[in-house]
Amino acid sequence: MARITASVYTSHVPAIGAALDMGKTHEPYWQQVFQGYEYGKQWIKDNPPDVIFLVFNDHATAFSLDMIPTFAIGTATEYMPADEGWGPRPVPKVIGAPDLAAHIAQSVIQQDFDLTIVNKMDVDHGLTVPLSLMYGQPQAWPCPVIPFAVNVVQYPVPSGQRCLNLGKAIRKAVESYDEDLNVHIWGTGGMSHQLQGPRAGLINKEFDKAFMDRMIEDPEGQAAVPHIDYVREAGSEGIELVMWLIARGAMSDLAGGPKPVVKHRFYHVPASNTAVGHLILENQQK
Ligand code: DHB
Ligand code: FE
Repeated sequence: MARITASVYTSHVPAIGAALDMGKTHEPYWQQVFQGYEYGKQWIKDNPPDVIFLVFNDHATAFSLDMIPTFAIGTATEYMPADEGWGPRPVPKVIGAPDLAAHIAQSVIQQDFDLTIVNKMDVDHGLTVPLSLMYGQPQAWPCPVIPFAVNVVQYPVPSGQRCLNLGKAIRKAVESYDEDLNVHIWGTGGMSHQLQGPRAGLINKEFDKAFMDRMIEDPEGQAAVPHIDYVREAGSEGIELVMWLIARGAMSDLAGGPKPVVKHRFYHVPASNTAVGHLILENQQK
């Protein structure tokens, strides 16, 4: 049977991708960001997943105001890096896992979550920057990825509670797949940031640190926090953080298992306009 063994959480700032692509990682400004991912890069070499279920948000790249799916699962065989206005990032195409993705879609929809099925989609910085942070600049991404897009761009957005419950349903779906696969689930986006309006540049370290504490210790409590609190406290783009709750909901402790082990925790301000947060949680082996 397939199993979720770990969850990885990270911000997805586009300027981080640009810094990598343009060879600026050793500049002092960027060094401070990238050193926070050195542990994760070694950890993922030592604990390679067979498949990554990658929860991210599209930034009006694949979807526009014409069509706004709340939750969309990628069932395609491959996904090309998107052109976000400066050409596509020079990163490998993303190979999908269509059989597992179709199984998860079937199971999660039958568990009463309405997913949009996506058979063709380009993937923007929301997906490619987390891959770059964890894997650097390989010729090909080391494993297949199931992209799972969440609408956190256009209101109304899903609640934290719904995201946590969806994570629980994804865990059940993965565990009902026959093949022996080691699956990682990633929650991406955040942390506090606001890109427009009078509060542009807002960062709230206290909110971010409390969020990370509760992601570890009290995800059910964090799930009860209403969307308006994210926007007030963490800025209009801080709402991206609800995606972390999907990954967290898929961890074993929320299905009666032991608490996950915190393998790594990193927080840095700023990268571009954003507070950068990164966590790695591992399920304890039974
Ligand atoms: C920035 C952050 C984001 O999450 C994003 O999607 C775009 C830009 C930024 O900090 O510049
Ligand atoms: Fe974003």
